[in-house]
Amino acid sequence: MIKQEPNKNIIEKIILLFNKKKYLEALDLSNKTINDYPDSILINNISGVIHTELKNYTLAKNLFIKVINLNPKYNDGYYNLANIYNKLGEEDNAIKNYEKVIYLDKTYYKAYNNLGNIFRKRNLNKKALEYYILTLNINPNYIRGFYNLAGVLQHFILDEKNKYINKFYLYLLENKIIVRPNAIATNVINGLFLNTNLKYNFSLIENNNFPINLNKIIEGLNENKLLLQFMKVCPVPNYYFEKNFVKIRNEILNQIYNLNFEKSYLKFLTALSAQCFLNEYVYSKTDKEIFKINKISERIKKHINVKEINDLEILILSCYNPLYSFDWSKKINPSNKLEEIFILQYKNHNEEKKYAQQIESIAVINDSVSTKVKKQYEENPYPRWTNLGLSIEPKAIKEVIGNINLDLNLKKINFSKNSEILIAGCGTGQHAITTASKYKNTNILALDLSFNSLAYAKRKAKELNFKNIKFIQGDLLDLKKLNKKFDIVESVGVLHHMNDPLIGWKILTECMKDNGLMLIGLYSEKARENISEIRKKIRSLKIKTTRTDIISFRKKILETKNQHWESIKYSPDFYSTSGVRDLLFHVQEHRFTIPKIKKYLKKLNLFFLGFEDTYVIERYKKIHSQPKDFYNLDKWEDFEKSNPRIFSGMYQFWCMKNKS
Ligand SMILES: C[S@@+](CC[C@H](N)C(=O)[O-])C[C@H]1O[C@@H](n2cnc3c(N)ncnc32)[C@H](O)[C@@H]1O
Repeated sequence: MIKQEPNKNIIEKIILLFNKKKYLEALDLSNKTINDYPDSILINNISGVIHTELKNYTLAKNLFIKVINLNPKYNDGYYNLANIYNKLGEEDNAIKNYEKVIYLDKTYYKAYNNLGNIFRKRNLNKKALEYYILTLNINPNYIRGFYNLAGVLQHFILDEKNKYINKFYLYLLENKIIVRPNAIATNVINGLFLNTNLKYNFSLIENNNFPINLNKIIEGLNENKLLLQFMKVCPVPNYYFEKNFVKIRNEILNQIYNLNFEKSYLKFLTALSAQCFLNEYVYSKTDKEIFKINKISERIKKHINVKEINDLEILILSCYNPLYSFDWSKKINPSNKLEEIFILQYKNHNEEKKYAQQIESIAVINDSVSTKVKKQYEENPYPRWTNLGLSIEPKAIKEVIGNINLDLNLKKINFSKNSEILIAGCGTGQHAITTASKYKNTNILALDLSFNSLAYAKRKAKELNFKNIKFIQGDLLDLKKLNKKFDIVESVGVLHHMNDPLIGWKILTECMKDNGLMLIGLYSEKARENISEIRKKIRSLKIKTTRTDIISFRKKILETKNQHWESIKYSPDFYSTSGVRDLLFHVQEHRFTIPKIKKYLKKLNLFFLGFEDTYVIERYKKIHSQPKDFYNLDKWEDFEKSNPRIFSGMYQFWCMKNKS
């Protein structure tokens, strides 16, 4: 009689070949084994997996169906079959089979995760979210589940109580590379209000229950781990939070020499200090507060060598100005309790100063607009960021571009083995590092005008262990001096800050290889209508671009009842100094329309390949579902007319010289 399952050694050999990506050899051996053991569940299943990898989906499907027939309780068989249906676009069949898996094994977390993915694709975001929560409740170490959860949270607002969600928000905010904290900030704010007692604590602050209740309030806030972490990773984009933070900062300053529970104050003040540092001290302060901080600073200076200074004094000052700005800061020997803030506000600053001196330059900046823009970003590098959303793993360029669904035939393009990518106007590195995480075997050159932005970028690239990015200072107008051509050129949020964006764009085009690809990001006139209004007002009032003027104008906007200005309060940029400057006080800003982009593309002999933002594309698809419509700029123009805020995250699109 034929033995039903083959020898363990054979199975191990096939799996080894499979893991080494020697799929054809693995298939050869598994086919031979199937001949000997036609009814083996294991070998039929493995064979199906190999065929899946080789994209022989129909063969794989038949094998998995066979496996299930051999053993109707074999949940891996249902799971693999569901995956195949998913790949074949037969989502209903996929759902049925994933449900079967869960029926057989309630802890099969990947089945919940994949169901979540299908519901997300169908825009059933709430349902998708529930499935991701189920996934992560079973396996809290499943990193893909967190990526998926973060993906939903970026475009779906959960505004009801949920007893699990805050722990996942906390995880996402603690992780450095899954998601930009800003992208999920509205959800975190809802989670804090709905699932914690923050409202009660804020009500105590609002009702001026000081000084009696200060200890109680601080204890309440300290218990809220999510709040403290949120304060440490991004400027909290909400005026209600800001009002309460400002009030409590003032009250702690008032009582600084009478505070009892040092430990609890250390915890909250560390988070508040980080928050104020991250928002670049955008909160306004009264003359009384300034007087008090100066006095404390003088006292510290006088006693710096004596053990009389307490950590709370230093911390409260760091909630008003960065530690590095105090002339006594180099003399302090930080205690363990101050270490976190010392790293953030002193050590990092010194490291950046060192990097700024090491960065190479292309040439001295000549252009007058570039000189002004440089000055702005030297003073306020933008954006300041802590965590970001990186790719889960780097892939070949073709695979990454293939997933964007552009209007081009990738088969006709040959990218070099070690492709060269240019990030023109890389700012503080978020863009360059994100790109570096996407592509395998690439060298990235990241250029910017501002040494301070580049130094920030370099420190962060080092922290995240990215070794293939070279940072260089210069004007993109001088790029030709490098005598280099790139496979991919990316420039997002840069050309519209030049004197003549067309000249800048032309230079970028000339730096691109003949079959290279280009990603461009430009401001939309329509999406920024309210911003242009405020900019006009700033000009008419002749408000200067000093830090004090920016902060006091911002305060006016916050307090105004002017309906037209209301929407600006929802912009995350409004909650940091560099953000407000970039948003409203930029020294140079052009805005584009789709016809203008069309005109420029024509002048540069570039072909439009499609937009980048999947969220924007999904919304467009609901109206224009024909594939050819995705690349029809006239239709996009109509779409923007009826959705004027759709490009609030800029027009971000791909183009190339010779359309393949
Ligand atoms: C709004 S920031 C965007 C940064 C980055 N692309 C991102 O998306 O995070 C604009 C950056 O472009 C840089 N920039 C503007 N004009 C430039 C030029 N002519 N050459 C090089 N960089 C420039 C600025 O210094 C600034 O850091």
